[in-house]
Amino acid sequence: MIPAKFIWKPLVQKIVTGHWRRFHMRPGMPPFPEKLKCAGLYLHVPFCKNLCPFCPYNRFKYDEKLFNLYEHAVHQEIDVYAPHLKDMKFTSIYVGGGTPTVNLEGLLRILRHLRNTFSLSCDICIELHPGNMDKDCLAALKDVGVTMLSIGVESTTDHILRNIGRNHDAETALDSLRRATSMGFNSVNADLMFALPGQSLRDWENDLRSVLEEGIDQISTYPMFSFPYSEMGKMQQLKSVKRPTSSAIRSMLNLTDEYSLKYGFERCAVWSWLKASKKKFSSITRHHYIGFGPSAASMIGSHFYVNTFDVNAYTHALPKKRPIALSMPVDRRLEMAYWLYWRVYELQVRERDFENLFGTEISLDATFSDLFNLVRLSGMMEKKNGGYQITKSGAYWIHRLQNEYSLNYINRLWGSCQKEPWPKQVKL
Ligand SMILES: C[S@@+](CC[C@H](N)C(=O)[O-])C[C@H]1O[C@@H](n2cnc3c(N)ncnc32)[C@H](O)[C@@H]1O
Ligand code: SF4
Repeated sequence: MIPAKFIWKPLVQKIVTGHWRRFHMRPGMPPFPEKLKCAGLYLHVPFCKNLCPFCPYNRFKYDEKLFNLYEHAVHQEIDVYAPHLKDMKFTSIYVGGGTPTVNLEGLLRILRHLRNTFSLSCDICIELHPGNMDKDCLAALKDVGVTMLSIGVESTTDHILRNIGRNHDAETALDSLRRATSMGFNSVNADLMFALPGQSLRDWENDLRSVLEEGIDQISTYPMFSFPYSEMGKMQQLKSVKRPTSSAIRSMLNLTDEYSLKYGFERCAVWSWLKASKKKFSSITRHHYIGFGPSAASMIGSHFYVNTFDVNAYTHALPKKRPIALSMPVDRRLEMAYWLYWRVYELQVRERDFENLFGTEISLDATFSDLFNLVRLSGMMEKKNGGYQITKSGAYWIHRLQNEYSLNYINRLWGSCQKEPWPKQVKL
């Protein structure tokens, strides 16, 4: 008999994306996104002082020589795009990593270059590591126009930080929040991970309380996923992405919800809570975006593509050609599904936003009628405020379903791209 997952997985994919077949990413050079009027900008800085074994992101041990090559190539990549993005308005900049401030002067030069090249009057958000963000660093970031910070606290319990291989202690993590909140940035987010080895519900309660008491604006909490290609995944000889048990995720998320509400926060995405009246901080929920740096992805409407993950390959490709490793054409139906995926992640799907992007010829309801009927019947979503709101139980179940796809897509794409600089093809 055919196992059920071989039936329901393609079926859900068909209902959501309009496609039965698995998606293929292949080498190719998509057009420059000259027709896009606005997009987000993503910059990837793939270096860290300490490589955490659980981390699935594209990052390398910091080396000054390699950083200099990287920096030179990023300037070239910006210049290659510049003539083609003359009419582009960037509505946000997100700098992620790695540890973006691992070489502060280099980062500031790149940010100034972006400023001088493109039309930017938007928030600049940056990811920070507690051990790489002293007062001078924060002042320099503020000076160059950074407005929002996201700090990788991960845990406020020393033995757990040690268990997961972080190179800072709890006090450094909490102190980084104090430094950040005292400097007058528009928003400070703290990232925490939960369902960690050796972590009790009481430890998690303590993490939540300690972080929320520091006067931050947003909290993002992620269950620890183990990817087969990460160091931790290799040690455990994983064949597929491993998640904490459903009961651990549920009980810890319920506690997060309870604590966040107590401190005046509202849930703003599956894993995030925001202080009322504050602006949301997010790396991935913009619809169109253009990425610079090794492993940066771009979604330009007609195509989704990723740069090579390898720093040397990236520097060698530029400035002659764009360092794009894999690309995939995106048809209109798939673009709508991509849009829906992130709106569901943000727990709100608005008809007006759909019309603004895709026009009024076809409605949101008509596009996703089968899916919406199914989800509404199960009580996971309700019609509200000119669209749909994901309910509390829906947030858990829908995201579990999303994870079935997205974690596997990420694992296949990132796993292959970390193995070789120019993969022949990746089946998602
Ligand atoms: C690029 S890192 C953050 C910035 C900085 N490099 C640091 O570690 O402090 C982004 C965030 O992803 C989360 N993260 C990393 N690995 C993860 C994993 N295996 N499962 C779940 N979340 C993870 C962590 O909360 C981390 O802060
Ligand atoms: S979690 Fe952060 S510091 Fe650790 S390796 Fe990943 S990007 Fe670097």
